[in-house]
Amino acid sequence: MSQQKAQLTIEGKVYDLPIIEGTAGEKALDIRSLMRDTGYITFDSGYMNTGSCESCITYLDGDKGILRYRGYDIADLAENCVFIEVAYLLLTGELPTKAELDQFKYDMTRYALIHEDMIHFFDHFPPNSSPMSILSTMVATMHDFYPEMDLEEDPYGGLTTTTARLLSKIRTTAAFSYKKNIGHPLVYPRPDLSYCANFLNMMFDRPNMPYTVEPVAVIALNKLLILHADHEQNCSTSTVRLVGSAGVGLYPSISAGIHALWGPAHGGANAAVMLMLERIYRDGKNYDKYIAMAKDPNNPYRLSGFGHRVYKTYDPRAKLIKEVCTAVLETLNVKDPLLEVAQELEYRVSNDDYFVSRNLYPNVDFYSGIIYRALGIPTNMFTVMFALGRLPGWIAQWQEMNSSKDSSRIGRPRQVYQGVVSRPFSKIEDRG
Ligand code: SDX
Repeated sequence: MSQQKAQLTIEGKVYDLPIIEGTAGEKALDIRSLMRDTGYITFDSGYMNTGSCESCITYLDGDKGILRYRGYDIADLAENCVFIEVAYLLLTGELPTKAELDQFKYDMTRYALIHEDMIHFFDHFPPNSSPMSILSTMVATMHDFYPEMDLEEDPYGGLTTTTARLLSKIRTTAAFSYKKNIGHPLVYPRPDLSYCANFLNMMFDRPNMPYTVEPVAVIALNKLLILHADHEQNCSTSTVRLVGSAGVGLYPSISAGIHALWGPAHGGANAAVMLMLERIYRDGKNYDKYIAMAKDPNNPYRLSGFGHRVYKTYDPRAKLIKEVCTAVLETLNVKDPLLEVAQELEYRVSNDDYFVSRNLYPNVDFYSGIIYRALGIPTNMFTVMFALGRLPGWIAQWQEMNSSKDSSRIGRPRQVYQGVVSRPFSKIEDRG
């Protein structure tokens, strides 16, 4: 807490508001006693100016395009780590030693199977069910198949059996849901493959056509998952915290986060970008038509993959993903016409004052889908990939919320009522 104070004058009375200063210099007005002291609440629809917690996990600066997990820049982590190394960092606050990472890799192998009874669930989802609804259902059900979480000595202590179990099983569940969706036999996790190689193998290996795990694909997937691993108090993370603050366990809290991420304004944007690029491509690359639609104040259409609540400059993740995209397509010798559409659209948007004046740049979702497509992952699985990446961040944030006396109290925003204040009841026979 900074010693500085702000002053607020209401109806002639002056109130002191303490100022909270973060380690990176961010400042906040502490209004936790505002209602009690003044009778006023604040109003901030969309929480654009409202901090919900103090956190030590992720720092981002939207003006400078900075993103750091536990103090490490994401470019360094994406370049030098594998995904579960970064998951360890987010969960514990420290990068693992070699021995610690080897143990964590062992845990990923040990917990990779899902209960055989859970596999029957796949047979009862309607055909063409969304992989996101399947994923959230299966994660919520883990609460019943793996109740041991309640036996954890310290369920909020970073690395637990429950967190290792969830990180590993969500990967298997995602791959199994894909195989079920295309009617292929399930491919079980292998003890000799890494976290990402196992996922790719479970997705694409077939009895009649063995899959070769390409190193470039494993490297690209590790980078993508790392770049999605956390992003402070975004919509889905705030959902995980809010649901968790009611006292529910990790699995239902994560299941709620999966639902929030599904939205096209949030994690669902990566799939929406692909559909948008395909639409522009099929429409004779009529870029101006779609840019005009997005600029029309009377048209709700928006260019997916552009804009961000916090970043008012190029999303640092988008920059790194764009580099991975080029490398993957070149190495795998994939010619995707949609990459050229994406690059041309970005060029035109970057030279259009409507977008420049509103600080609308590509975000994390703009180029990621092109990489997933090059790896053979279908569009309806793109947001599942986002969820696989975001899971360690959700877990770390859920644990931090539960370990904090302040932010673990139940989340319950207020409102300003604008309805009819009061009126006498009328019986149905008197209502005409
Ligand atoms: C993610 O929060 C996070 O950290 C999220 C995320 C994470 O890692 O968790 O980074 C992941 O969700 C990335 C965002 C993915 N969503 C999209 O790509 C969907 C397209 N983008 C927009 O819907 C929008 O930009 C948002 C939702 C991302 C941000 O919305 P805001 O902050 O509420 O911004 P806004 O709606 O107030 O827009 C400001 C102006 C408006 O115009 P005016 O009213 O000033 O005239 O910019 C316009 C908007 O119409 N605008 C767009 C636009 N995004 C904003 N116009 C056209 N196309 C767009 N994409």
